[in-house]
Amino acid sequence: MVMTYENVLTEIENGTLIITVNRPDKLNALNNKTIEELHEALLEAEHEKEIKSIIITGSGTKAFVAGADIAEFADFNVTQGRQLSATGHFKLFNFIENYSKPVIAAVNGFALGGGLELAMASHIRVASDNAKMGLPEVTLGVIPGYGGTQRLAQLVGKGKAFEMIVTADMINAQEALHLGLVNHVTTQEELLNKCKEIASKIGQRSSVAVRTAIKVINAGYNKQENGYEVEIEEFGKMFGTGDFKEGVKAFLEKRKANFPGN
Ligand code: COA
Repeated sequence: MVMTYENVLTEIENGTLIITVNRPDKLNALNNKTIEELHEALLEAEHEKEIKSIIITGSGTKAFVAGADIAEFADFNVTQGRQLSATGHFKLFNFIENYSKPVIAAVNGFALGGGLELAMASHIRVASDNAKMGLPEVTLGVIPGYGGTQRLAQLVGKGKAFEMIVTADMINAQEALHLGLVNHVTTQEELLNKCKEIASKIGQRSSVAVRTAIKVINAGYNKQENGYEVEIEEFGKMFGTGDFKEGVKAFLEKRKANFPGN
């Protein structure tokens, strides 16, 4: 990673790129520049073979990300509003969901609006016990515009998604765990360690198989594709990979696999 950013910190540790959204005095709200920089950081990491997974977190102890930057879109018209949503989907939220390496959201505090949408676009979510999550857009006279209306329903079911979106209520980390919105809850001190532990396991697996699994799981949520058919095709292709040959050989030789990553 060679680039440096204004609103985003990056650090590579044991094959994991840790990205920290760094606007603590604005509770890490996502302005246009931050979305652009997150996109750039992810794009750069996509081709770095040593990076096996990504952790995204927020700077400070109060917020993961408190939403899209309200000040920035306050004067937008209809066309600009549409563009704001479309660009966000394309550059960040869909981009993360379809990213070739697992993205883990370390939700260290408020994850509201675009912040919760960022966590929901990630593949795995871990929250600290002080975290508060919600989609408060209707309090501002808008709706979630970064995939929240779709991904919340996928993660917690339609009924709870309706309630959270139309009441704008926040839920705490334990409720989020109960709903399946986050996979684990830890103390704030343990949050990054828990995420690193998950990342470390991912790092030992076949990166080709991990990448393919992400693609196939997502296919089931894409109305243009049949997830089962995609699974059959992708399963077949695995038999032509170096990782498969090494994985099976290592198992039969009773040793740990040393995946070539191809
Ligand atoms: N966009 C822009 N700025 C934001 C922001 C957002 N989404 N969320 C927080 N901030 C800014 C505040 O304006 C404030 O800036 P200032 O010090 O220059 O006035 C700073 O971050 C601290 O926030 P503040 O509201 O003073 O903290 P708090 O502890 O009183 O409240 C929240 C915390 C999260 C409850 C509150 O900031 C909030 O409701 N934020 C907006 C959440 C939201 O609606 N997100 C969805 C956006 S679509």
